[in-house]
Amino acid sequence: MLNPKEIQTIEHDVVVVGAGGAGLRAAIECSKLGLNTGIVCKSLLGKAHTVMAEGGMAAALGNVDARDHWKIHFRDTMRGGKFLNQWRMAELHAKEAPDRVRELEEWGAVFDRTKDGYISQRNFGGHRYPRLAHVGDRTGLEMIRSLQDYGIHQGISVHMECTALDIIKDGEKVSGLVAYWRETGRFIVFKCKAIILATGGAGKAWKITSNSWEYTGDGYALAYEAGAELMDMEFTQFHPTGMVWPLSVKGILVTEGVRGDGGILLNNKGERFMFKYIPEKFAAETADTEEEANRWLKGDKNARRPPELLTRDVVARSINNEVKEGRGSPHGGAFLDIASRVPAEAIKRKLPSMYHQFKELAEVDITKEPMEVGPTLHYFMGGIRVDHDTQMSRVPGLFAAGEAAAGLHGANRLGGNSLSDLLVFGRLAGVGAADYIRKNTGTINLDEEQVKISVRRATDILNRESGTNPYLVHEDLQQVMQDNVGIIRVEHELKKAIDELQRLKKDTEKVKAPGSSQYNPGWHEAISLRCMMITAEAVTLAALERKESRGAQTRLDFFGEDKEWQKYNIVLRKGKDGNMEVEKVLRTSTSPELERIANSTIEALDAEVAAEKENLKIS
Ligand code: FUM
Repeated sequence: MLNPKEIQTIEHDVVVVGAGGAGLRAAIECSKLGLNTGIVCKSLLGKAHTVMAEGGMAAALGNVDARDHWKIHFRDTMRGGKFLNQWRMAELHAKEAPDRVRELEEWGAVFDRTKDGYISQRNFGGHRYPRLAHVGDRTGLEMIRSLQDYGIHQGISVHMECTALDIIKDGEKVSGLVAYWRETGRFIVFKCKAIILATGGAGKAWKITSNSWEYTGDGYALAYEAGAELMDMEFTQFHPTGMVWPLSVKGILVTEGVRGDGGILLNNKGERFMFKYIPEKFAAETADTEEEANRWLKGDKNARRPPELLTRDVVARSINNEVKEGRGSPHGGAFLDIASRVPAEAIKRKLPSMYHQFKELAEVDITKEPMEVGPTLHYFMGGIRVDHDTQMSRVPGLFAAGEAAAGLHGANRLGGNSLSDLLVFGRLAGVGAADYIRKNTGTINLDEEQVKISVRRATDILNRESGTNPYLVHEDLQQVMQDNVGIIRVEHELKKAIDELQRLKKDTEKVKAPGSSQYNPGWHEAISLRCMMITAEAVTLAALERKESRGAQTRLDFFGEDKEWQKYNIVLRKGKDGNMEVEKVLRTSTSPELERIANSTIEALDAEVAAEKENLKIS
């Protein structure tokens, strides 16, 4: 056994785990606030799921429709999240997003422009007004590029291809992180006063996902093992439009921007089926005839929005239903047609990545033919339970931001709210960590025993003479989650998943990846399996506990929303016996003012905002 004293040790004030939008933004803030900051990422800097938010970042700039305002963005977010969102986080997000977008522009992001030269904004599901600041269909990529370019000059240390294994604590407080270099397999310990987890989600626990190999729930598992709580894990977002064909690219994202720019969904009978699925709740705000939807497409600001721009949970369920009832496309999806609605030149200009993606991967020319699309696991609304203002978990010194954290999106995230989430809460996590460090000035100790346990747990995988193959366990896990914890859920399938997960947990405990730790992909796979198992169990237990359908959680056996359940979040933590505990936690009440805004009719809120703007002009 390696002596902990011989392990490479690096000291930072704060370690940010993850190098996507939230991690980069958090690290920039920490560094600006004078902290010695390190980023640890298991892939390359900026190689992140952030780039899969293609269509834009939501912020009530009001550039394309001056009626927009933070209050309307807030209302949309709460309604999209089926009122399970953390109120204060939704308020902070809606208020601060415009400043974060403008700041990103100052740091070099080159947004598409309106004719008048303002940052252009496009429509997206659930957003009342065109709200998504975008760069064609590559917005996430541009955001990463800008944050990287800017961040690189902030004196941040970057530790790439370095996988986090365990958080070390001094008493209750964070004191370090054990990790290993993926290339050499050598261990490293980061001594630090605070950790910000910005590790994204865990799509890789499902078979069909827009996520790439990095998304294995590492942050959820690290936090859970360190004593933090997870919340809202039942709400996993299936983006309605992933590629369904060819098989090798099944799940890859087809941006909502296609529908935002006028694309429509059709079944194999040529019917524009979304008109059938408009929920009562949205009926007054959604076009229910083709004629009205076309008025919207022609730029009539008073026309109601087409049903393809209902929230993602609704659209994903509708496609699912069309396929189930035999009206799907040849490869088990729906047709997404923009060719017959928008001129070829505009498609190529506004959606260049989609044009190339389909041309190269599926030999489909989207300016001439429809795409085939279907739901793909895209995003986790749930995550680490954090304080709404500081982003700190219940473990002192442990913070989370972006998809790793729970709260902002409630039961369903609106497209485009993730990029603004990363910027707003990445920054706030940085501020929170700096504040915490300023107030906790005592020395911290790295407990060698904890380091030893972590290293031993990882090396055991290399030293086992017999055991299971981690790749096969992973495949099994993906099938279990895809079949039993998908878009539509029911008690007996969720219970079946729990039984299967218990079996897979035992397999995970004895996976082997023989050989050296150098260049050993089986070992990486085995290590990430542990994180996926914790995440999968949390999602399944929470899904079983919530006995209603709300947002991204649809229960066949508990149809429709139940007002009573709106009062609760489901919280998961590691119990004293080592098992996962599930608790229904009563939601704290919020300010009456926020409730009033969220519950206002759109007409009333529009009028209020108009009056406010008028008053501002006068004064
Ligand atoms: O469809 C998209 O471009 C994805 C955006 C998002 O998830 O926010």
